[in-house]
Amino acid sequence: MRRTLVAGNWKLNLGPGAGADLAAAIQSALAGRKLRGDVLVCPPYVTIPAVAAFAQGSPLLLGAQDCSDQAKGAFTGQVSAVMLAEAGCSHVIVAHSERRQYQRETDPLFIAKIDRAHEAGLIAVFCYGELLDERRAGRAEAVVAAQLQGVLPQLAQATADNLILAYEPVWAIGTGETATPAIAQQMHQYSRAQVAALLGADAAARMRILYGGSCKPSNARELFALSDVDGGLIGGASLDAESFLGIVEAAEEIAA
Ligand code: 13P
Repeated sequence: MRRTLVAGNWKLNLGPGAGADLAAAIQSALAGRKLRGDVLVCPPYVTIPAVAAFAQGSPLLLGAQDCSDQAKGAFTGQVSAVMLAEAGCSHVIVAHSERRQYQRETDPLFIAKIDRAHEAGLIAVFCYGELLDERRAGRAEAVVAAQLQGVLPQLAQATADNLILAYEPVWAIGTGETATPAIAQQMHQYSRAQVAALLGADAAARMRILYGGSCKPSNARELFALSDVDGGLIGGASLDAESFLGIVEAAEEIAA
């Protein structure tokens, strides 16, 4: 019922030259295919135009890793959601744990960024997830509940069509340690119940919830097969065409 999404978050990797090479490899592998799910890449801002050339007319979707909370004006160094849409993006990641950690971003900023994204017609991919210490303290669900409750009800125009959730347990990001299927399913099911309470049962049934954290071709199948996991947000394994496409194939098989 929910269309799968495999999304690559390139983070601070691949300038226009290398990004174009990877986009070309993905695009040529997907060319002429009738995909059951969606495939998205989120390059650094300066690489977006180079990738847009390959995404146009292809099933490959293009997104950004962040956007400004402001629409326009004197905000040096920022990039607006409207600019991203003009550059060919359909999606934007908001609230990644690395922005929470390194830029100290918090809920009011996430709300404003997602609202700007929606005003620009973009689909926001909202990231959340607990730290290792929080899981060890038995607080994983409470942390996730607070992260969802702090943002979702405040959004001006969120729907299951313009918002995607990405559960990314911080202890699994870039560590090689993946959530077990049991943990992933439990946290996704819990997240969906939160969405039902905050946005209604229909939105919860339709909203896509991605898993992120050391997802790779060898574990993607068992994760994507879980009933509340609708695809993945992929970091390291999205930087190589073969491994990213291996994850895309896992999603396609599950959707079959
Ligand atoms: P890794 O796949 O490298 O663990 O990163 C996950 C992530 O943060 C995607 O946004």
